[in-house]
Amino acid sequence: MKIPPVKGTRDFYPPIMARRNFIVDGWKKASLRNGFEEYDGPIFEYLKMYQIKSGDEIVEQLFNLTDRGDRELAIRPEITPTLARMVNQQVNSLPRPIKWFSVPRLCRAERPQKGRLREFFQWNIDIIGIDDVRADAEVIFTAIDYLRSLGLTSKDIKAKISSRKLLSALLRSIGIDEKDLSAIYVLLDKKAKLSDEAFEEMLTKQVPDKVMQDKIKHFMAVDSVEHVVIENDEVARAVDEVKELFKLLELMGVADFCTFDMHIVRGLAYYTGIVFEIHDVVGELRAVCGGGRFDNLLRDFGGPEIAATGMGMGDCVLEILLEQNGLIANDLPTRSIDYYIICTEDLLMMQAISLTAKIRTAGKCADFSYKSGKVGKLMKTASELKAKNCIILGQEFIDGQELVIKDMQTGQQKQEKNETFITSL
Ligand code: HAM
Repeated sequence: MKIPPVKGTRDFYPPIMARRNFIVDGWKKASLRNGFEEYDGPIFEYLKMYQIKSGDEIVEQLFNLTDRGDRELAIRPEITPTLARMVNQQVNSLPRPIKWFSVPRLCRAERPQKGRLREFFQWNIDIIGIDDVRADAEVIFTAIDYLRSLGLTSKDIKAKISSRKLLSALLRSIGIDEKDLSAIYVLLDKKAKLSDEAFEEMLTKQVPDKVMQDKIKHFMAVDSVEHVVIENDEVARAVDEVKELFKLLELMGVADFCTFDMHIVRGLAYYTGIVFEIHDVVGELRAVCGGGRFDNLLRDFGGPEIAATGMGMGDCVLEILLEQNGLIANDLPTRSIDYYIICTEDLLMMQAISLTAKIRTAGKCADFSYKSGKVGKLMKTASELKAKNCIILGQEFIDGQELVIKDMQTGQQKQEKNETFITSL
């Protein structure tokens, strides 16, 4: 019996791997041009790390295990707790701001569905040490910068932006207790996925008072930050911060990609300020990415109080979106051969291998055919492999150590002495 991959995981055969590399290489380039440095951490951590602050949803999706020393561990479902742990360990020696990126392989025991798997890759960018909306703007800009560089436009994707500070100020202004806020965040975050009746029912459970319920529904329906009713100074400050963010995004040339959306609350428990998600405009896919400010996480992990903001973008929804928009090819190169060496006779095989090794030693990519034979047939393999050049060892080599070098793009052919060719490499 052939063994299939485990539910929710993928096998990356070379053509699929080429697509993954296309995505990951783009993430890395976008990170570097926006001034981020790369880091990574272990694939598993202590289970309790995720129980501290990530929230129930992610804890329910953990792949956990007990090691031989009876330690409770979990495979990382996100890298933000690892980031907080790592920064805390060297907090006094790291130059600030800390602008780090990573592309971890993550596992979540979610129900596999379109754009959501049990194992995926996630681009993370985070800025630590800047308690200012300029850092949030930089994170949002970097995410859009990447997506725009692939050819996506503001007609394809939108960054929906809100603020937990604003939401908590509004909720408290109508009399919601501080201790009930996180349960309401979870409910409001789920709103888009629930039917109206289910939402009503759950809201009534959380907030039995009808007047309060109406007030929540009223401010959740606000479609512009300009229309938020300024109930008190706290609301005013949160509104100003959002306005400032939009001014910065305008200045950075990405305002057309951004909209204010009160419904963006985010599922993770640690967010404290600006929150955002990027969605396809049609709205049929889950979020392409999500992030926000998490000013208390490092403190909750035993470190000092340091402001932080960042985002995570998975590869699954992104790949679907690129596919739908014709922005990712199905036949991306899986290798890049400068020279493909073939020989017409078996007795030339040793020279073919020696030449291949010399080209490789000179730093160029070379491969050879394990079979000798007819030039036409072997040349066909060279073109299937998309080799740039094909070198033929045939009668010319037997007669005078001459190589026949064919440029596979132009079809032009030249003859060169073996030694001359090698010294020219
Ligand atoms: P998150 O919203 O849990 O945030 O995930 C961010 C993104 O990761 C999602 O928008 C989606 O693209 C991708 N993603 C999440 N779960 C899956 C899955 N099961 N399969 C495929 N893709 C998935 C976080 O993880 C935060 N730690 C992000 C962050 C970094 N916030 C601040 N810094």
